[in-house]
Amino acid sequence: MGIIRLIPTENYNKETTFVFNTSLFTSEDKLYLAPMQNLTSLFFRQAYERFFPQTIDYAVSPFISVCSNGVDAKSIKFDDVRPQANLGAMPVIPQILGNNPEQIVETCKIIEQMGYREVNLNMGCPKKDIVSRKRGSGLLREKELVEKIIDSILNQTHLLLSLKVRLGVKEDKDLETLLPVINAYPIKNVTIHPRRAIDFYEGKANEDLFEYYAKQIKHTIIYNGDIFTVEDFTRLKTRFPHITNWMIGRGVVRNPFLAGEIRGIFFDKQILKPYVMELKQNFISSLYRENETLVLNKMKEFSKYICQGMNIDATPFLHSTSLQEITTLFETCL
Ligand SMILES: Cc1cc2nc3c(=O)[nH]c(=O)nc-3n(C[C@H](O)[C@H](O)[C@H](O)COP(=O)(O)O)c2cc1C
Repeated sequence: MGIIRLIPTENYNKETTFVFNTSLFTSEDKLYLAPMQNLTSLFFRQAYERFFPQTIDYAVSPFISVCSNGVDAKSIKFDDVRPQANLGAMPVIPQILGNNPEQIVETCKIIEQMGYREVNLNMGCPKKDIVSRKRGSGLLREKELVEKIIDSILNQTHLLLSLKVRLGVKEDKDLETLLPVINAYPIKNVTIHPRRAIDFYEGKANEDLFEYYAKQIKHTIIYNGDIFTVEDFTRLKTRFPHITNWMIGRGVVRNPFLAGEIRGIFFDKQILKPYVMELKQNFISSLYRENETLVLNKMKEFSKYICQGMNIDATPFLHSTSLQEITTLFETCL
């Protein structure tokens, strides 16, 4: 075990007791930012790294959907992971979503040409239309196809491969059938989000099955699911002391201080406002390539999370009908 950081928290009371951050985060532990379509994209990662530097070790990009009609390196699909654009953000690992081994290899080659050393395969997306097309968590029921995809990536590119999985589609045990395939290849790591696809993000993450699969899979494991507070992390680290890789999504989008707090790094709460203003600016800047409705919807989606984190009613944001309206709300309410 590494060192446990003992840093006084904000609640520290000089008169009475010392309250220490004992989140159990060690020098071996790493934090990953979860991929979240439209939320943890480049605009977010840049602002986050500027205001909360070095609190997240790596990000996995929101998925790049593998095209069925040819792959073009110039496509805007790759903009989120273009290395030059990512210089100010935390290191990113591109994630792909697809099911056709040849097209996946073509996409991986573009990622490789950009200078990346690793690609992450999405085997967890729970959306019905994606699952029914044997993509995302739909792959969890396709042992032969998964073997072909993994084999193709590892034999036809020089990339390292990591996987992001759920437990199954409707069953907890779909993942079980993939274990021989997953364990047969030199996979860099496997992120386990211990829910079934039909659960989406509801209900409690199944920690017992996480524990089971973490033991069955012989590769490095990343835990992912429902880390919303320092206490959540501490409880999970106490239960799984050998896990040193942690992925957080909604918790960090809601509360950008969370990653630092887990590490025992405390930022002045005053930076929340300029951070949110920078995000707002980044949303607006994307107008040159995206239409207003799209940008408005993205701002609404983001406001759901940040309002929850700040204990503010998100209704006015969600009812906004124009960019002007939501921008004013960002400026006055957040
Ligand atoms: C709006 C939204 C978008 C997501 N997009 C992706 C994605 O592109 N790729 C992926 O692997 N997971 C995606 N996820 C799942 C997250 O990466 C993560 O597994 C999930 O939010 C659970 O982690 P959390 O409890 O820390 O949020 C998404 C989740 C949400 C809520």
